[in-house]
Amino acid sequence: MGKYIIEGKNKLSGEVFTSGAKNAVLPILASTVLNGGICVLKNVPMLLDTFVAIDILKDLGCKVDYSENTVVINSKDINKTQVKEDLVKKMRSSIIFLGALLSRFKEASISYPGGCNLGKRPIDFHLDAFKNMGINIEEDNNLIKAKTDNIKEAVINLPFKSVGATQNVILASIFVKGRVVIKNCAKEPEIIDMANFLNKLGANIKGAGTDVITITGVDKLKDFIEYEIMPDRIEAGTFLCMAAITDGNVKVKNIPPIYLKALTDVLQKIGYIIEEDKNSIAIKQGNNKNPIDFLETKPYPYFPTDLQPQIMSLLATIKGTSIIKENIFEARDKHIKELNKLGCNILTDKDMFIINGVKSLKGDTVFSKDLRGGACLICAGLFAEGKTIVEGACYINRGYENLDKKLSILGANIKYIKD
Ligand code: EPZ
Repeated sequence: MGKYIIEGKNKLSGEVFTSGAKNAVLPILASTVLNGGICVLKNVPMLLDTFVAIDILKDLGCKVDYSENTVVINSKDINKTQVKEDLVKKMRSSIIFLGALLSRFKEASISYPGGCNLGKRPIDFHLDAFKNMGINIEEDNNLIKAKTDNIKEAVINLPFKSVGATQNVILASIFVKGRVVIKNCAKEPEIIDMANFLNKLGANIKGAGTDVITITGVDKLKDFIEYEIMPDRIEAGTFLCMAAITDGNVKVKNIPPIYLKALTDVLQKIGYIIEEDKNSIAIKQGNNKNPIDFLETKPYPYFPTDLQPQIMSLLATIKGTSIIKENIFEARDKHIKELNKLGCNILTDKDMFIINGVKSLKGDTVFSKDLRGGACLICAGLFAEGKTIVEGACYINRGYENLDKKLSILGANIKYIKD
């Protein structure tokens, strides 16, 4: 599992670069199934989840090479359309390989990805949309089998702005005869990055980043493209919260400020000073700090659920009572018990979290149960007196590249112990 050991109370200062975005590279890796040719991806974050997606591609028959942060995929010789079960179990977002395989081969199968520590995480929006597109879906035991003679044009009204369902429908629509329109689609920057990749590959996708996306089917995609993955806004936001909690003075580079407006608005409301230029965000201490009466997570461009645990650990150290409402995942609260072990005073009432700020925290051994929950425990450990051991580093390493090295450069006293 691995662990991080932090000696708290060091102020973070200096500059840090974001890596490529995990939540952009995963759908783009799935997209490389489509062209049966070569895709060269740059600025790829070499994370545990990236390697799971690479293993899925290899298992399907792709040739994949990588060095540093460049990955080269040749999807010419794909020889199967079932996604390997043990890899699906490792990464539930592998469900979006379904759309890509269906597009190219008109059939695909995948074991039910199941839930994780954030709650059930069903895939009904994905499957309902596919049925609407003339795709036959059979679910026997734990295997989903999808098959069609041809994918039909359709208007898909998503019940919720689901990121994965939006991505899966886009992937299934690339070669459709006619058009697929997705209404109430997700608008995250990672959706735009995926659409940019696919359009560069020769697809015809309009409206990414708005509430309606229209895909007009094409006959063929290019055999070769190079593409640079966008920067990771959630990693960048995590660094801003870590700088804030240590009363630090940090500039996060290679991140367009617009991606994190919902977070920087909250940090300024608390009392931090935020300075931005075209491609960086700097944070430093203001004169005082205020609690946040009410903050809720919602789909982009509102406050992202993936930064809820991190802002919570910051608010837990700010005098007064703050309230967070988690609207996206039914169980994104596993970090609260662990934060309280460090001395936080956080109460939960279903999806409402009441955070009573405390003056100090005391290091202890805590357990990360999911990726962002683990990051929030490191955040709290940076503030706590003494030593904090965060077990379950494997969750954290799913989404943060070289986290200990980056934080050490900023002045944190942190060590990563493999096992
Ligand atoms: C993506 O997950 C991200 N993962 C998540 O980041 C992120 O938290 C989430 O979007 C929301 O922004 C990747 O991009 C790999 P959803 P996804 O479909 O696509 C419900 C991280 O920490 N739902 O937008 O799985 C679902 O249960 C991860 O980097 C259905 O009910 O999220 C959830 O409550 C965590 N039926 C809500 O919608 C469906 O068919 C949003 O899920 C699909 C989703």
